[in-house]
Amino acid sequence: MEIITINEGQVKIDIPVFNKVSSKAPVFYNPVMEFNRDISVLALQAYRNKQREDIRICDAFGGSGIRGIRYAAELNGVMNVVINDLNPLAVQFIQSNILKNGLSNVEACKKDANILLHSCRGKFHVVDIDPFGTPSPYIESAAVSLKAGGMLCVTATDTSALCGTYKEPCIRKYGAMPLKSEYCHEVGLRILAGFISRTFAKYKKYTTPLFSHSSEHYLRLYLEVGKGAGKTDKSLKNLGFIVHCPHCLYREVRPGITPQLPSECPECGGSLKAGGPLWLGDLLDTDYIGDMLNLLPKLTLNSDKKVIKLLERCYEESQGPVTFYDLHKICKVLKISAPPLNDVLEKLSSEGYFASRTHIKPTGIKTNAPIDELKKIILLIKQ
Ligand SMILES: C[S@@+](CC[C@H](N)C(=O)[O-])C[C@H]1O[C@@H](n2cnc3c(N)ncnc32)[C@H](O)[C@@H]1O
Ligand SMILES: [Zn+2]
Repeated sequence: MEIITINEGQVKIDIPVFNKVSSKAPVFYNPVMEFNRDISVLALQAYRNKQREDIRICDAFGGSGIRGIRYAAELNGVMNVVINDLNPLAVQFIQSNILKNGLSNVEACKKDANILLHSCRGKFHVVDIDPFGTPSPYIESAAVSLKAGGMLCVTATDTSALCGTYKEPCIRKYGAMPLKSEYCHEVGLRILAGFISRTFAKYKKYTTPLFSHSSEHYLRLYLEVGKGAGKTDKSLKNLGFIVHCPHCLYREVRPGITPQLPSECPECGGSLKAGGPLWLGDLLDTDYIGDMLNLLPKLTLNSDKKVIKLLERCYEESQGPVTFYDLHKICKVLKISAPPLNDVLEKLSSEGYFASRTHIKPTGIKTNAPIDELKKIILLIKQ
């Protein structure tokens, strides 16, 4: 077997050579996900700095071991990292990569992730779920294994389900109706956050998103875990639905598990589409992103320029409403060419509205202005 050595972050790992990134590779490694892992290192250090004790981390889908090895080598204040994978060859590489990096606080494990997590009740401060495709079958065991005060990190690459290309898989995997729209990736993050919160609730645990992003082909969420029936009941009040008019782009949120959902658009009379149940609370914690931004100069990350850009966008939009508009989509409905985005943002702010860009779409606008106001502002700028 031909082997190559990869340098990523502050570690080196060996992997078998394979001509293309694929779940069929003998041991999985995707260089594109370095950005995801860079952000993870930063997010975990920001979390660690808030804890009174050193932390125990479980990288439940280790692949080559790169993620867990980076956590062990690059984070300060880690007590122990378990890197797990079901593939025996991956576990051999995880073991040799641990030795290659001279790490003593890491162990390799070869179990089905659900069996490992169920057998580690309340043991971990951080659980990282990074499977092929959907994380949905692993959220319940993560809920069992996480301590109160812990953090769950989840990657989902099944964006076609979460973002509404196909609705049946979303209903099957997440018990929610997706919403195909210009902001479908935000809806995807909210469906995933809602599903996680409902799954944790069975264990009288609740989750509060600290950070989340939609990048490349995946969605990623970081959530803080709390415990207690009363607090869980309160947290579930963040669940609800979004109704959306594909004709005039009107949208509205309806909190609750069984809200009355309107079927006719109050703006244009067109028929409304509904998505949910999903998380209507914040997906981005402004203070937490501030902590990550402050930490960034202390870490050496290859993708740090891209990380800064993402964090700054997320910081800006963190106080914004549940959905965003798309300037090009509105201009298509208005049958005009799009004015400069900054002009629209400035005008919205001067009218007293919240106005920011969003990391999800370069032409996206986060604002609490209703659609008819936004259209008026765009037409005014175009005059
Ligand atoms: C997307 S890869 C992980 C990538 C890795 N976290 C990284 O950052 O490079 C998913 C891994 O999960 C492993 N896997 C698949 N099903 C599993 C299961 N039920 N339990 C544990 N590992 C599993 C696969 O062998 C594969 O290595
Ligand atoms: Zn309408």
